[in-house]
Amino acid sequence: MSRWKRFLSHFFPLTIHRQASSISGSLEVTWTNGQLVLDSQNTNYSYGSLQRVLRLGLEDIGFETIRKMEHILVLGVAGGSVIHTLAEEVGFKGRITGVEIDPEVLQLAERYFDLGRIPTLELVCDDAFEYVLKTKLLYDCIIIDIFRDTDMPNFLFEHFFIQRIGTITKPNGFVMFNTMILTPADNDRNRTYAAQWGEGFAVKSLPRLEQHNELFVVRKETSGTF
Ligand SMILES: C[S@@+](CC[C@H](N)C(=O)[O-])C[C@H]1O[C@@H](n2cnc3c(N)ncnc32)[C@H](O)[C@@H]1O
Repeated sequence: MSRWKRFLSHFFPLTIHRQASSISGSLEVTWTNGQLVLDSQNTNYSYGSLQRVLRLGLEDIGFETIRKMEHILVLGVAGGSVIHTLAEEVGFKGRITGVEIDPEVLQLAERYFDLGRIPTLELVCDDAFEYVLKTKLLYDCIIIDIFRDTDMPNFLFEHFFIQRIGTITKPNGFVMFNTMILTPADNDRNRTYAAQWGEGFAVKSLPRLEQHNELFVVRKETSGTF
């Protein structure tokens, strides 16, 4: 049955699950162009264009470099497209911790997107802000991909959070931050963001991905401090 839906979705999208969400407005699982995607009320959450954006960031870091890493933290899991890219395309075999605030999203991720099949993945239902404050571990790479529909919470751009993320990144590790630019104010916000990283952090911007996304790839040098 799903093979037939996949085929038909090359001609028109087929939504197979829809539910209300207090965090994202609504959640929809849809076959589109032969692929199962997760959308919120107004934007693509997982797979589709979002997966392409995050894959470009991983390519920028380098698949070979990523394969040598031990532990990757993903803040904002949704259907887990970047987790599948890491496990299946990059061939990353290390530990992945995924933090997601919405328990209903995690249920959809396991039911439709097979996240339960990745043995090295640990899923945590928590607010990313709280998790980052509590964790005592250091990570080789932190992927920040947090949206409430099209909105990005303010804490992501605050100096305190940037500093904490920098502190829990290992020396020579990476931070990948996905943002959306819909207005000139969002553009100003991103310029201020880039300027907040301290000495010893190399900040690179991959702008205008899939039209509205700007991805930051930050490398922590051995001496990165604030
Ligand atoms: C664009 S989706 C993430 C896509 C995912 N990285 C992927 O590769 O498919 C954004 C997710 O951030 C989650 N989110 C929003 N606020 C959050 C928070 N404070 N802490 C953790 N997750 C949050 C949303 O519930 C949503 O599932």
